[in-house]
Amino acid sequence: MFPAAATKAADFVMVRKTTLPGETPVEILFYHPTFDVTQWTPLLQRHLPHARLRAWQTGDNAPADYALVWHPPYEMLRGRTHLKAIFVLGAGVDSLLSRLNEHPDLLPSGVPLYRMEDTGMAAQMQEYAVSQVLHWFRRFDDYAALQREARWEPLEEYRHADFTVGVLGAGVLGGQVAQRLRGWGFPVRCWSRSRKTYPDIESFAGADELSAFLRGTRVLINLLPNTPETAGIINAGLLAALDDNAYVLNLARGAHLVEDDLLSALDNGKVKGAMLDVFQQEPLPAQSPLWRHPRVRITPHVAAVTRPDEAAAFIAQSISRIERGDAPQNQVDVTRGY
Ligand code: NAP
Ligand code: GLV
Repeated sequence: MFPAAATKAADFVMVRKTTLPGETPVEILFYHPTFDVTQWTPLLQRHLPHARLRAWQTGDNAPADYALVWHPPYEMLRGRTHLKAIFVLGAGVDSLLSRLNEHPDLLPSGVPLYRMEDTGMAAQMQEYAVSQVLHWFRRFDDYAALQREARWEPLEEYRHADFTVGVLGAGVLGGQVAQRLRGWGFPVRCWSRSRKTYPDIESFAGADELSAFLRGTRVLINLLPNTPETAGIINAGLLAALDDNAYVLNLARGAHLVEDDLLSALDNGKVKGAMLDVFQQEPLPAQSPLWRHPRVRITPHVAAVTRPDEAAAFIAQSISRIERGDAPQNQVDVTRGY
């Protein structure tokens, strides 16, 4: 979810009309369906004064050094093998990689791909996850249902020991969410491809350990990337393996969750509540039963937004490294999918 502002055409901003010796301009192409390039230009130039940013428009084949993109049109990057790097303006790169089957040349070959790592998103994810887990733990959902019937009825307190939180995907965001929830006293475990060593958090790794991770998990939080291996992972089989009266928090991608399976699990009582930020189809269609389910809470893909100032600083730092001849760390592994 991003601030509503149209990417403006013909925004071609130069810091200085002439460049100083030794300051070769860095030409940057920009495409985002809603971000305003004029907001990004000064933010980037604060760190990279010789950056020249221009909003890509159909037919623009002029050379560029870098591209900053979110859901770029196919024509934008095709054949641009001279780019030094492409930066995706979010944490997930599926808006590009999931289209490679249809358009194998969507990404120019040999050009490294980078994404936003944290850039303020981990704190947002922590706020979202902690507030929702506490909402369920303190039974505010049950009290809201009682309030609708004007019933004054103190309920039995839940115990932390019965509220094990399992985080699917323990990377930049999931790892920080897991640690923050551990700080609130919940037993926390995580599942990822490689084993983690977060203090006091049980780590499960790989497909072979998924069942053990699910067994005993009461609150499932999803922060996996959307890849061919993870699409549809939250399905009837996975939900059945959770503790009874489970809760599901999907903060990653709609493609991970089989929505009909979640609705069945809510209706048969296996899942007590769900909070969903992302959906198979976005915006969520008005006719979706999820909107009206009494135990589903919905937000419109806002769990963690890209903050332009922090993202621009991160991009500028990465470009500076590339210009100095040092590759930034953590290039996206296109074959792995994240
Ligand atoms: P990340 O650092 O790449 O972390 C991904 C984690 O998933 C890693 O721990 C990785 O394991 C694990 N993983 C990947 N494939 C796996 C598999 N097949 N089996 C088990 N574990 C697997 O990504 P991130 O920055 O934390 O972001 C995670 C996702 O959050 C993004 O891809 C995006 O879709 C979503 N997101 C959503 C919002 C929103 O507003 N709703 C905002 C930002 C991000 P290893 O550590 O072993 O590699
Ligand atoms: C948002 O969903 C992101 O991937 O940054």
